[in-house]
Amino acid sequence: MVACVILHMARAFYTSAYKHPRQFNWIVGMGLFVITLALSFTGYLLPWDQLAFWAVTIGANIAQSPQELTDAIGITEYFHIGRMQKELLLGSHYVGQEALIRFYVLHVIVLPVITTVLIGVHFWRIRKDGGLTRPKAADDTACADAPAVASTGSCGDGQAVSIKTYGLMGLMKGTTPQVNREMKNTMPTWPGVLYVITAATMITVFAMLLLGAFFDAPLAEMADAAVPENPAKAPWYFLGLQELVSYSAFMGGVGIPAIVVLALALVPYLDREPEDAGIWFSGPRGRRVALWSLLFSTATVIGMLCFTVKFGWLRNWEATAHVPQIVITLFNPGTVFVFMFACWSVWVVKTTNSTRMGAIALFTCFLVGFAILTYFATVHRGPNWEFYWSQADWPTH
Ligand code: HEM
Repeated sequence: MVACVILHMARAFYTSAYKHPRQFNWIVGMGLFVITLALSFTGYLLPWDQLAFWAVTIGANIAQSPQELTDAIGITEYFHIGRMQKELLLGSHYVGQEALIRFYVLHVIVLPVITTVLIGVHFWRIRKDGGLTRPKAADDTACADAPAVASTGSCGDGQAVSIKTYGLMGLMKGTTPQVNREMKNTMPTWPGVLYVITAATMITVFAMLLLGAFFDAPLAEMADAAVPENPAKAPWYFLGLQELVSYSAFMGGVGIPAIVVLALALVPYLDREPEDAGIWFSGPRGRRVALWSLLFSTATVIGMLCFTVKFGWLRNWEATAHVPQIVITLFNPGTVFVFMFACWSVWVVKTTNSTRMGAIALFTCFLVGFAILTYFATVHRGPNWEFYWSQADWPTH
């Protein structure tokens, strides 16, 4: 589900589906993204085997990571936000029965209810925003078929269409110029889409039942706090973060994720160029920017990883033994990637004179960074988070 949501977000991003009037739905989508991660993370503990136990222990330690910053500025004694977050998550200092019951309730009641509400709002907005984003040319063709009704709206050629207004408990207000338009390239929700969704749901449930009937769940040993796993790895979608956390707990666990989520949420407000909605990469220029960004971010991330594996970083060097902790927290391989991605994106905005191109550059860099870090932590990190070419090279005990 996490992978599908990331792919869906990338599809919406690269076809400019976050632009006016869909900014609000993009933000709702961001909420769904965070909730999907939370659903997946809380579900991870429920098998209560060694894999689950140690993965969630790592996740909970990430929640405690602000301690690195509060230690560095000497305020942990008065404001131990890291411990508060960890206790809020686990109901205790460690993963135990309190955490299990907390994760269970979150996973089966609280998060599904929030997800259902958010998905309801998401789908409602898709309709009210006039269906999926599509190239303007498709609407212009459709306009020719629009019924001429007395109203204030008009198609590209000046033909009138009806305009409905809507509101959602005073939260959202607006008009929906697309409603009542008879478009060639649309499909009715009822019965067309509903039948397809019902069929897909039935096939999925049937496939899950078959899998459940013929294969046992692949459980590891029963959870045991006395037998630590080495390496203890977080769930796959947090492995990139775990790699960043190994450079700096605070920047990897809180700082960089916060920057990424904030940047994604601000995208519709920073890039307001109206043209090119519904066109993949906004055309050939965007495709080129995405390709160059792919090459740039691949070279940057792999280069930094190789450097760090070979030479270490500030805290491993004798000459920098006395560098204050705050500098090590803020200046590490993770923050260097993010800084270089930001510079690249600003340079793209300057040279193309387009905020959309800058957004494509930044989004592509983050996506590539996430993929490479996840791969690297999955395949090349072994006991004590050391680098190994493959699992076959791990020490035997
Ligand atoms: C549980 C998670 C989610 C579900 C079930 C979901 C479902 C959907 C569906 C069914 C559509 C219409 C079909 C399509 O565009 O493929 C849609 C559209 C959309 N979604 Fe999501 N979505 C989720 C998460 C997200 C996320 C993480 C984002 C972005 C941050 C997002 C942003 C959008 C946008 C902007 C549209 C409109 C697309 C357009 O107009 O072309 N959604 N979503």
